[in-house]
Amino acid sequence: MQAAALKKKYLEFFRSKQHAAIPSASLIPEHDPTVLFTTAGMHPLVPYLMGQPHPRGKRLASVQKCIRTGDIDAVGDAFHLTFFEMLGNWSLGDYFKKEAIQWSYEFLTGKPWLGMDKNRLFITCFKGDKDAPKDAESAKLWEAAGIPKSHIFFLPKEDNWWGPAGETGPCGPDTEMFYDTGREKCGKGCKPGCGCSKYFEIWNDVFMQYEKTKDGSYLSLTQKNVDTGMGVERTAAVLQGKPSVYEIETFQPIIAAIRKQEKKANERSTRIIADHVRAAAFILGDQRHVSPSNIDQGYVLRRLIRRAIRHGLLLGIEHEFLSQLADMVVDMHGEDYPELRNNKEFIRAELIKEDQRFRQTLLKGLQKFSSFAGNLSGADAFLLFQSYGFPMEMTVELAQEKGMSVDTAGFQEEFQKHQQLSRQGAEKRFKGGLADASAETIKLHTATHLLNEALRKVIGKSIVQKGSNITADRLRFDFNLDRKLTAEELRKVEELVNKKIKEALPVRREEMTFKEALAKGAQAEFQAKYEEQVSVYSIGDFSREICGGPHVQNTSELGTFKIIKEEGVAAGVRRIKAVVK
Ligand code: ALA
Repeated sequence: MQAAALKKKYLEFFRSKQHAAIPSASLIPEHDPTVLFTTAGMHPLVPYLMGQPHPRGKRLASVQKCIRTGDIDAVGDAFHLTFFEMLGNWSLGDYFKKEAIQWSYEFLTGKPWLGMDKNRLFITCFKGDKDAPKDAESAKLWEAAGIPKSHIFFLPKEDNWWGPAGETGPCGPDTEMFYDTGREKCGKGCKPGCGCSKYFEIWNDVFMQYEKTKDGSYLSLTQKNVDTGMGVERTAAVLQGKPSVYEIETFQPIIAAIRKQEKKANERSTRIIADHVRAAAFILGDQRHVSPSNIDQGYVLRRLIRRAIRHGLLLGIEHEFLSQLADMVVDMHGEDYPELRNNKEFIRAELIKEDQRFRQTLLKGLQKFSSFAGNLSGADAFLLFQSYGFPMEMTVELAQEKGMSVDTAGFQEEFQKHQQLSRQGAEKRFKGGLADASAETIKLHTATHLLNEALRKVIGKSIVQKGSNITADRLRFDFNLDRKLTAEELRKVEELVNKKIKEALPVRREEMTFKEALAKGAQAEFQAKYEEQVSVYSIGDFSREICGGPHVQNTSELGTFKIIKEEGVAAGVRRIKAVVK
């Protein structure tokens, strides 16, 4: 049975049990700051699991797109993926253990449904601890349904407890369903949940009866819910008798396209690329736009893309190849997820841009890496990250290939220190206007100062900054003017900025009082609040602004400045978007 048929049957089955089929939510959680991505079908349903009535009723089912990065190192084995589709059914204070287990059994083994051999099914249940008792009730229900007692195991919280996805939220004991692939046991202790690929975990029924609070205690929920999750790719692999998720029809064309281009074979690298490009295409193609950056979801996306490019190099693929693979992902999944089709061009363009950005520093970074003798310190790894764009796990992989280790804790410390510094700098002046402190963003920040002054020179001294927002991809600068700029003016502004870049002007920082800064003609943002003591950045004799930084040291670092858009954003306020390349 193919994945598409499995999804259809699942929804059909739960419709026959009076469930409403709801559409997949975005991969980017809307109201939940505790996690970056939707990691399970239950995620968008948290408010309803906590008691808010759902407009479609108390029984729901869905196919939800999910991203999990916790197991990124395991991607490439038989069954770990960063992007996957999850089938789920929910009871919002309606049915509980009895029906959930009966229906799981019926769907898995029933002839009109998946028709699995019940002797191949193995079950795990919660063993019990200080927070909640042993779940003997679920085990009894499985036995009553037809599972032999010898196929039922009790495991602790690490295995048989779900949630919350963040630090707080609904959670409870679960019971998991495994399929015995018939392969050899991995050792004497081999059993469901041991992590080898003999027993494939396919479905999980969670009995959500607690809420974990901030202080770590578990409160009983008044509304007892069922939350289930079945991995589409894993279950399809089982139904097709395939040894890994990468063998199913939604992966095979991508794997074949990679093999066609590779010069050296490496199964793990091929699988990592196939997984990461699928994840990247779905993140880029999500209804909530995300681009590669150095923060939050954008950073996860960047890591996936860059790691895929690096594994491409291990296979001898030295050209940009991800955009073509992403097209295949869009074609395969565009019907179920129309947002992919709508964003097809954006996905392509962003993958190509990120490929260019990364390849610019990749060789230099690899040279730098080779210059390190022995194990890498946190500072070494951070240098590779900051100056050459190497995601942490890529540095770890490179080191492992050479038998070296990396101080990952030291890297995290450096990373946090740096984030704090840049945040302070950004908050002082930009109130969040600087989205990160990557090399690209810093260049664009200096370019913004040049643009501000160029506008004052070309249009007039009355121009003041009304706002600014900078990401690694572009700068955005708002200023006061009650008309559109002419093409001639835009050309002059662009030329003047490029002239100042060519002049290789030094960028200098000085501390002074706000009054002194104004007396020296430093620009200040319109209506912004400043401290008594401020820092002032000067670019040669051309520009002077009160600013918290950070900036490049010399304008020659910037490249070519280009205005990509000029538009009105409010009465008397114009906005320019520009890039440096
Ligand atoms: N939320 C549960 C899981 O993802 C069903 O396993």
